[in-house]
Amino acid sequence: MTILVTGGLGFIGSHTVVELINQGHECVIIDNLSKSTIDVVNRIEMVTHKKVSFIKVEMLDKTAIRKVFQQFSISAVIHFAGYKSVGESVKQPLLYYQNNLFSTLNLLDVMQEFAVKKLVFSSSATVYGDTSIPPLTENLPLSAPNPYGRSKLMLEEILRDLVEANTEWSVALMRYFNPIGAHTSGLLGEMPYDTPNNLMPHVLKVASGESAKLQIFGGDYETLDGSCIRDFIHIMDLAKGHVKALQYVEQHTGCEAFNIGTGVGYSVLSLLRTFEIVTGEKVPYEIINRREGDIVISIADVQKAENMLNWKAQYQLEDMCVDSWRWYQSIKGYV
Ligand code: UD1
Repeated sequence: MTILVTGGLGFIGSHTVVELINQGHECVIIDNLSKSTIDVVNRIEMVTHKKVSFIKVEMLDKTAIRKVFQQFSISAVIHFAGYKSVGESVKQPLLYYQNNLFSTLNLLDVMQEFAVKKLVFSSSATVYGDTSIPPLTENLPLSAPNPYGRSKLMLEEILRDLVEANTEWSVALMRYFNPIGAHTSGLLGEMPYDTPNNLMPHVLKVASGESAKLQIFGGDYETLDGSCIRDFIHIMDLAKGHVKALQYVEQHTGCEAFNIGTGVGYSVLSLLRTFEIVTGEKVPYEIINRREGDIVISIADVQKAENMLNWKAQYQLEDMCVDSWRWYQSIKGYV
């Protein structure tokens, strides 16, 4: 039986495919290559020493998805495909709703058609909004501050409705905290195609001399050093969490949300300090105004994932920094 991985050439998708293959799963990747390149297939093959099935599919085209289900005997789906830039979503909300919602609805329709009822869905801790006090537990009230976040929240609700109406379905909603790091081989990581939005890609650009200074958004928050606090998680831990979630949906029915974080928070400044120590590189920075929409502290309560998925993050912040830097150096001048 084959696991379908949508968006499998992206940052989280590609690392998850590696982990799935390492655990003996057969995978087929679909991706529209809008935020990735075909070269990632070679990289996955180099890391795993296995051939990977890849099909370029635009998920807004339901017929194209159907063809994949006709060609392969799919037993479960891990769905990563979707746009993820908050800023872009604010400027182009329709693009985000259209892409993230319609592609998922198409996928669900085809899954129904082929009686494939097991899904691991890529959600985000952004669904906790900005009012809850950490550590954040899965049963908190949800809200989303921007179209990207709302698209994730809407999809969570759609999936809950689907499971409510079809009790044979099994869905895991994976609420990621802040994934960073890269595969320890240095062969796989986050491809720096677009202007970076998140913290680590900016840190890497500054450390490598491509940007002069990191801008830290706000130094007057009510935290120990005045910068925001995040639950950074190594991408390989996150990938392993998906393999556990797959096992979970294979053995249960219903819809469950899981926080995928470490349960430990580090400030932006302490991430920077750790990065400098473990890599030996300087990261000049300046503290500027707060970024609109930023929450002060985001930390996962990881008890549920530990108890129900038998999964716990293993990597430390030091590993995340070293692995991110190794990866970035290996692709310098490549893209
Ligand atoms: C952001 C999104 C979140 C989304 C997640 C996906 C916002 C407000 N939130 O989360 O909805 O799910 O990305 O990856 O956009 N920082 C700097 N300088 C930088 C970049 C970031 O100081 O150049 C700070 C931010 O202010 C924040 C921390 O670093 O305090 C982490 O930022 P980021 O990596 O963008 O993640 P989130 O804001 O947690």
